[in-house]
Amino acid sequence: MATTPAGAEALRDLVARSLVGARDRTELLTGCVDDTDLARQHSPLMSPLVWDLAHVANQEELWLLREVGGREPMHPEIDPLYDAFEHPRAERPALPLLPPGEARAYAHEVRGRVLDLVSAATFGGTRLLDGAFAFGMIAQHEQQHDETMLITHQLRKGAPALSAPPPAAPRPDALALPAEVLIPGGPFGMGTSAEPWALDNERPAHTVTVPGFYLDTTPVTNAAYAAFIAAGGYDTARWWSPAGWAHRQRARLAAPLHWRRDGNGWLRTRFGVTEPVPPAEPVMHVCWYEAQAYAAWAGRRLPTEAEWEKAARHDPVTGRSRRYPWGDEDPTAGRANLGQRHLQPAPAGSYPLGAAPSGARQLVGDVWEWTASDFLPYPGFTAWPYREYSEVFFGGGYKVLRGASFGVAPVLSRATFRNWDYPIRRQIFAGFRTARDAEPALAGPGA
Ligand SMILES: [Fe+2]
Repeated sequence: MATTPAGAEALRDLVARSLVGARDRTELLTGCVDDTDLARQHSPLMSPLVWDLAHVANQEELWLLREVGGREPMHPEIDPLYDAFEHPRAERPALPLLPPGEARAYAHEVRGRVLDLVSAATFGGTRLLDGAFAFGMIAQHEQQHDETMLITHQLRKGAPALSAPPPAAPRPDALALPAEVLIPGGPFGMGTSAEPWALDNERPAHTVTVPGFYLDTTPVTNAAYAAFIAAGGYDTARWWSPAGWAHRQRARLAAPLHWRRDGNGWLRTRFGVTEPVPPAEPVMHVCWYEAQAYAAWAGRRLPTEAEWEKAARHDPVTGRSRRYPWGDEDPTAGRANLGQRHLQPAPAGSYPLGAAPSGARQLVGDVWEWTASDFLPYPGFTAWPYREYSEVFFGGGYKVLRGASFGVAPVLSRATFRNWDYPIRRQIFAGFRTARDAEPALAGPGA
């Protein structure tokens, strides 16, 4: 695809801003604790922060300096240490990792060379360069690790290291919102073939027919989830799937991760601060099994991935799919809670400017939302640029999460983005909303 000179300069500027924005966040997340904390493993589920730092730099070197720039490896001996597929997270602390000072110096050196490459790059001619895809992929990769590092901070014990202003208080009109919105049945365009920085699993665009359904206007709140606990939800097998009930027993689940009892109420720990659980905030740190049990208790179900995306993107007036619930324009602070601007979700009913045509709010931002769906390829999927980004995870027992949490950068928040994790995972910034059918299922002949 030919790029005009003005288009190339705008793209160069976008690439530089995206890379610098990601690095500023990485420096915040790795600069707010001492070197001992950086090298320590805070949870067997997570890498030491210093691994993420050097891994981000190593991927940047591999894809941008070597693949795109044709440069020789800077330190080929360290490549295997930072290959996520060679070493599971639990093993990483035992590796001879670069110490913090050397990891910082390596990341700085790679970035300097990459910015030189960006200043001279022509964005086109190869698939990696078209639309600056490889640069966008690397900026997104660093921001994905920034969210991972934010999760490590949430699991870390000790004095608070991060701070941010709270989101706005609950809106007075939030209680007047309808509990659910109707998404009429019919086809819509799912996925994308046009978004230049979309990753392989979001492609290609394809038409999916979704029967009519109702979806919660907002994510399920802490208050609603506490009512499920108070009603004995964790002690009632019939709300749980067989696998979910077995896991609930084995893991002794009794409340969301980071919650503990305080008399009749609940406290939670959030980035080192213990505070009363805010009732109006979307519930977070629940696994897929807990979300599914809550939905069954409420007489509802989790939405499928296609339902979620239709609710988030389909414009019934034009029939086309939007980039975001509010339209095609990029996220702003008034539309969605993204980018670690706050260290928590905003109260349910926030961000009227970010509402979808259906009236559903907070589909993008605040919390990731578990869907009912397994992580599978779209029809016509091809792995790009490497199988290990998505393909090796398809059908592996992962559930899809959609929407983006408060810790997701805007560059990753398009409404086609797909996240996935095991149904037992609770450390991620995930909540959910529930759905129900709008149309009775058609009875087949002889039914
Ligand atoms: Fe990675």
